[in-house]
Amino acid sequence: MRLRASTDGASLEALRVEYLGKKGRLTGALRALGTLAVSERPVFGQRVNRAKEVLEAALAVRGEELRMRQREAALQGSAVDVTLPGFGAAPGRPHPLTRTLTDICDVLGGMGFTVVEGPEVEDDYHNFEALNMPADHPARDMQDTFFVDDGRVLRTHTSPVQIRVMERQPPPLRIIAPGAVYRNDDDATHSPMFHQVEGLMVDRNVTFAHLKGVLTTFLRKVFERDVSVRLRPSFFPFTEPSAEVDVGCVVCGQSGRQCRVCKGTGWLEILGAGMIDPAVFAHVGYDPEEYSGFAFGVGVERVAMLKYGIDDIRLFYGGDLRFLRQF
Ligand code: FA5
Repeated sequence: MRLRASTDGASLEALRVEYLGKKGRLTGALRALGTLAVSERPVFGQRVNRAKEVLEAALAVRGEELRMRQREAALQGSAVDVTLPGFGAAPGRPHPLTRTLTDICDVLGGMGFTVVEGPEVEDDYHNFEALNMPADHPARDMQDTFFVDDGRVLRTHTSPVQIRVMERQPPPLRIIAPGAVYRNDDDATHSPMFHQVEGLMVDRNVTFAHLKGVLTTFLRKVFERDVSVRLRPSFFPFTEPSAEVDVGCVVCGQSGRQCRVCKGTGWLEILGAGMIDPAVFAHVGYDPEEYSGFAFGVGVERVAMLKYGIDDIRLFYGGDLRFLRQF
């Protein structure tokens, strides 16, 4: 009974001490042997020793029982269920801007344009001068420039790549130049660092109709729907005539109602374009009597904003995983 009632090592030890300890009851009984008659001693001694053996064995069994129970409880507490499914891997995915840039290059690549690249730290000649913006020309103010040092700037657009390609290659040409560009701009639709894809086509008999056809096809493919496209007469020193191209705002469904993206107009400007100005051809040694061409520069962030319905350009650069995981 008392053995059963011992549920831990301490109470079991107390029981052992009570019977088998130095002052224990069985030890005491053996000590009392001397007070018995000589004839009774062997039988009594044998009985006490037998009782001691039985008790020691019972204590050992109960002790082992308690240890087992303790081990089982510990195992249950930290059980590993090997049949549970594992944790899935959390793979990374392309940033929405990378995706948009890739889409743009894929669509234009499919239309026969080849990718080329140019430097982000650009000299004044390629960023401005050869694009028909001589020093002190007011058109330089159209783009708020970051100057690196005397004569070098962070390129304000991808158009200098046009010059670099035409300098080293004769026509015909059909290229696109994707990359980062920099301007001192900062609001919901303007970022100090953003991306453009420049397009350039030069050949005999290239007309504005080709430009319009390429842009409309390109935009409908990139947006994967029949977006409204609007060409507005505009001015760039390096193209004549020039146009700015707007796409119907998909964020507000062109209603313009309280829309931060299109600022209430129903349209968002996404690219500048035009026919190459003969003054630019003169800088690279192309004969404007023989060749004509068009160019365009599309804002990648603006395309992504419209495509995914994003009303603040700064979200692309915040690194907020709650935003990025939606793509
Ligand atoms: C240009 O940069 C010209 N180089 C485009 C061009 C190329 C015209 C070839 C003619 C021929 P613009 O400054 O308008 O033009 O910029 C082109 C596009 O870049 C804009 O339509 C807009 O989509 C995007 N963009 C301009 N500034 C910013 C900015 N700060 N943040 C994000 N996107 C911008």
